[in-house]
Amino acid sequence: MIEIIVKKRNSDIEEIARAVKLSLCDFGDVKKFILSNHELLDDKTHFIVDDIDTLKELFNSGRGLVYGIKIGEKLIAVQAMDYNREDYLKFKKVFSWLGKKDEVMEIGWAMVTPEYQGNKLTHILMGMLERDAHEETGSRFVATTAHPHNISSLFVYLKNGYLGYKIKEHYDNIRMFLLKDIRRSITLEISETSWCDCMDIDSCRKKLDEELICCNVEKIGEQIRLVFTSKE
Ligand SMILES: CC(C)(COP(=O)(O)OP(=O)(O)OC[C@H]1O[C@@H](n2cnc3c(N)ncnc32)[C@H](O)[C@@H]1OP(=O)(O)O)[C@@H](O)C(=O)NCCC(=O)NCCS
Repeated sequence: MIEIIVKKRNSDIEEIARAVKLSLCDFGDVKKFILSNHELLDDKTHFIVDDIDTLKELFNSGRGLVYGIKIGEKLIAVQAMDYNREDYLKFKKVFSWLGKKDEVMEIGWAMVTPEYQGNKLTHILMGMLERDAHEETGSRFVATTAHPHNISSLFVYLKNGYLGYKIKEHYDNIRMFLLKDIRRSITLEISETSWCDCMDIDSCRKKLDEELICCNVEKIGEQIRLVFTSKE
């Protein structure tokens, strides 16, 4: 359990929150939390909840981990790591250079209630999940997907060492596929970079199809730029 000082958006009042491992008896609260926050999203295609009941499996030992941040008993953030072996194939196709023995975990279900966004809560949960999942499974690769217009999600993953390798159809929608090697240092040796406006999905997809990787996201004025570099 980790204690964190958080502030509500537009407030200076500090509150103490706790980052905790959640168990199966929390599933009802987690589902309610995700569905109610999903209702508030401007673009609901950024976060698919049709398969919310599959999250239940991740509370079982050996299948995954679900962590949350609570103030008192109230959830304000959730994120999960999935070790489901059957899903590996989906990622193996995208990250085709991974060796046969490299297992890929999937991090997802990141949700922070809007009034507590901006406290770096996903960064904290992600660090805990990566560390504990690596300890439990020995796997070093963590994949995730994000809609190329989901700016908070792109910031969270790209600033935490995830690299974007492909933009593809997924969940009947479009997603960037990102991967992190948690045993490697975050810093890439970047020789040459180029960028695309994240709103221009076709150009971003083309860069990735040309074997560049997305290594950063920047805000320049009102524009959100995805930064690309050649592969290591
Ligand atoms: C994604 C999500 C979990 C992140 O929540 P969070 O941990 O509170 O992260 P923040 O809201 O602080 O945003 C992360 C970063 O994006 C940046 N960001 C977000 N929107 C931005 C914008 N329009 N312009 C510039 N930067 C932006 C923030 O400044 C922050 O950067 P920092 O950590 O360097 O300060 C939260 O936005 C959320 O619940 N979204 C809805 C559900 C969702 O889409 N989940 C992800 C599915 S892949």
